[in-house]
Formats: sequence, structure tokens, C-alpha cells
Amino acid sequence: MKLWGGRFETGPSAVFEEFSGSLHFDRKLVKADIEGSQAFARALERGGILSSEEATQLVQAFAEISSESEDPAAFDGAGDEDIHTFVIRRLKAKVGALADKIHTGRSRNEQVSLDIRLWLRASSTALLHSTADLLAELLTLARKYPDAIIPGYTHLRRAQAVLWPHYLLAYFEMFSRDFERLEQARRRVNVLPLGSGALAGSGFPFDRPAIAQDLRFDAISRNSMDVSADRDFALDFLYACSTVMLHLSRLAEDWILYSSEEFGWIALGDGVTSGSSLMPQKKNPDSLELIRGKSGRVIGDLTSLFITMKGLPMTYNRDMQEDKEPIFDAFHQTSGSLRMAKVVAESIVLDPAKPAAAADESWVVATDLAEELARRGVPFHKAHQLVGKLVLESVKAGRRPASWTPDQLAAFAPEFTLDMAKLFQPAEGMKTRTVPGGTAPSAVAAALQEAEERLAGMKERLADL
Ligand code: ARG
Repeated sequence: MKLWGGRFETGPSAVFEEFSGSLHFDRKLVKADIEGSQAFARALERGGILSSEEATQLVQAFAEISSESEDPAAFDGAGDEDIHTFVIRRLKAKVGALADKIHTGRSRNEQVSLDIRLWLRASSTALLHSTADLLAELLTLARKYPDAIIPGYTHLRRAQAVLWPHYLLAYFEMFSRDFERLEQARRRVNVLPLGSGALAGSGFPFDRPAIAQDLRFDAISRNSMDVSADRDFALDFLYACSTVMLHLSRLAEDWILYSSEEFGWIALGDGVTSGSSLMPQKKNPDSLELIRGKSGRVIGDLTSLFITMKGLPMTYNRDMQEDKEPIFDAFHQTSGSLRMAKVVAESIVLDPAKPAAAADESWVVATDLAEELARRGVPFHKAHQLVGKLVLESVKAGRRPASWTPDQLAAFAPEFTLDMAKLFQPAEGMKTRTVPGGTAPSAVAAALQEAEERLAGMKERLADL
């Protein structure tokens, strides 16, 4: 069946039919398509185009098609051009000629926008839930080791000591911004396109706010041409997925490193690792590697739609059919990766002695010493120079910070005093970083508390969706 054909003398070539058909992927929109069509039947009833018996009959038939389509076999042998055509064909089989009225004043161009919006709205909500779950798990993992000290890195060189919860809270911030991005994407998606027609606005005076209310949209679109032409609501969704994946990828990279024999800080659970078919001793972090790998794929989905859209003349162009597979793929990969990361986080066991030793044996305390000198009146550049000399001497002699006695330190330069030797313990200097956002234990305790409250707020907003 086709939803067009009157002006053609011959049908499409077999090659074109196969080339242009989208049912094999847009069948994912079947529920959305039907939900939208049911609301449209009610709109036609309100507009006096359908009697209330007709509308009821259509809504009922759509409901049957919806439940029948849960069986994948419902699509077996279906040669329809797209999901909209599939649904109408099934409708015709159920209600006969009445089905011909459902498309009154409606175009597939707005219908496809509506379907994607409904699908993206549900998908954003699902991703928001998974993101909130991961955020909660990060806080749990932070609370398991509240006092653990790790070296923080820049350039993958030990830089300054931080608390383990401080490190995890950095990811909490990234994923909470992702949460906000998903909320924003959801808001942009949650706008009713119906009533726009093919591009010029419907020729029937639909009560668009009533349709919006029926389908739980926050607003109606303002311009019919924009509806046919626009996919930036989908790009917003893909961008939100891409930043989630970017952050997951960096988290994965960290944990692959930290669980390696070279670092040895964390152990990943057996349940999230795989063995080697050849090397009996191997326990590989495949779950994290897959997250890292899939992040490239999702960023590719964003890029793909961007490039599809650039340069299209107003308004709808069939190129836009290429929007669906990137959206479906990005959702599927992002949702799987968020859930995977949560399970990995649950499985992590930290051995606090390992990162503590890494901090002790390196010069992560150097900044603490230089800043202490500066607090006592030594100009910072001078203090930096002095501590640099101390480090150079130590490195040459193979000495770690704690090997310096207070007397030796005081003898090194007159600016140093005996009590400053306590700063050779990474935990000491850390106490000075009490600024909001710093790694002092007091600041981190407050940040953890605040993060928990913020997460509770996010969960409340989620409950309202
Ligand atoms: N399958 C198309 C899409 O996904 C449906 C939209 C309308 N098609 C058309 N030729 N006007 O974009």
C-alpha cells in the first residue's frame, strides 16, 4: 500500500522501493505513531470531521494495532514504505473505508516529527533515570572510602593529593550537567508539531492547544515551515547523549588505568570483566573498554545528523529520513553504557594503601610547601624556586618527602621551619584547601552533603515528568 499514487502512471521501481523504505528501522516508532494518530482522531472529532462513533472506532482499532505490533511477527513480510504507511494499512484492514479519513489535514512531514518527538521524550526520560542512578552510585562509592587519599594528575603526572570522594565528585558534577542537558533536550522535544500540515499549516482549524494537552506537550510549535524543516531538537538530544558518553568514556579510561597492574588501586568485580581464550591469568576490563568504544560511536551519531541537515533547502527533504538510525543508536548505546557504568561502580573495591603510597612516594606535597612559605611571607615565585630545589635534590638522592626530618628541612634553607615538615604528609596540606570546591576534608564533606541534596532535587523533578 502507498499513501500516494494518484498522479503516477507506473509504480516505483523495485530498486527504489527497497532503497527508500524505512520500515525496517522506523518500526521502532510504532507506538508513538499510534499514540499520535489516536490523538489526531480525537482532534478530527472535535473539529467535526469524524463523528464520535467513528473516532471511537478508530481509536479502538489503533489500540488493537498497537498491541498486535508487540509481536515482531506483525512486521513479517510487510512491504510498506514506512511506519506511517504500515499503520494505515493495518487500520484499513480493520475499519475499511473509515481509515481514509484519518489523514484529513495531516501530512507525514508533521507526523514523523511528532513520532520522533514522542519517542525522544520517553527516551530522554529513560536516560534521565539512568543518569540519576549512576549519580547515586558515585556518591555511594565516594562514601565507602571517605578518607582515602589519591594523587590527582595533570598530564598523567602526579600533581596534588586529593580525597577519593573529591575525585568522584568531579564526575558527579559532569553527569549532573548531563542530567540538565537531557532535561533541556527533553523540553525542546516536548513541543507539539501537529497542525502544521506538510509545510504551510493545516487547512482545518484544529484546536492545537487541545491536541497538545491530549498528548501532554508543554507547548505548540509556532511556525509550520519550521516544523517540517527542523531536526535540531534531535541534535540537542544527540548532543546530550554525546556529553554523557564523553564523560563515561573518561571515567572508563580512568578506571581501566586505576585497575591495571601498574596502578593497582581498584579491583573490578569478576562480573564486569572477561578472561582471555589463551592467557589463563587475564582479567580484562572489557565492560569499560566497550563504554569507551561506544562513546565514539555516539559522537558519530551526532556528527551524522549534523551533516545530514546542513545545506538542506527549506523545508522537508527526504534526506531527513536519515535522522532515525543515529537517534535510535545513540539512545541504545547511551542507555546501555550508563547502566553498565553503574554496575561497574558497584563492583569496585578500592585498596586505599595503593594510591596513598603513590602519593607518599611522589612530590604531590610540593605545592603545599610552597604555599605555606607564601602564607608566611615568602613571595610565591621565590617559594616555588626553593621547593623546586628541594625536589631536585631529593630526586637526585632518591629521597621521598617523608625521609626529610624537621631538622634537615630547616637546615635546607632559612625560610623553612621545623613545623613545616608535617607538610610532607599529603593529608596535611590538603587541610588548607577549604575553599568551596576544594579538597579539604571539611569542604569535601560539605560537597558530598550538597550533592546528595541536589540529587534528591533531580529525583523530584524526574517524578514530575
Ligand atoms: N519516512 C519519512 C521520514 O522518515 C516520512 C516523512 C514523509 N515522507 C515524505 N516523502 N514526505 O522522514
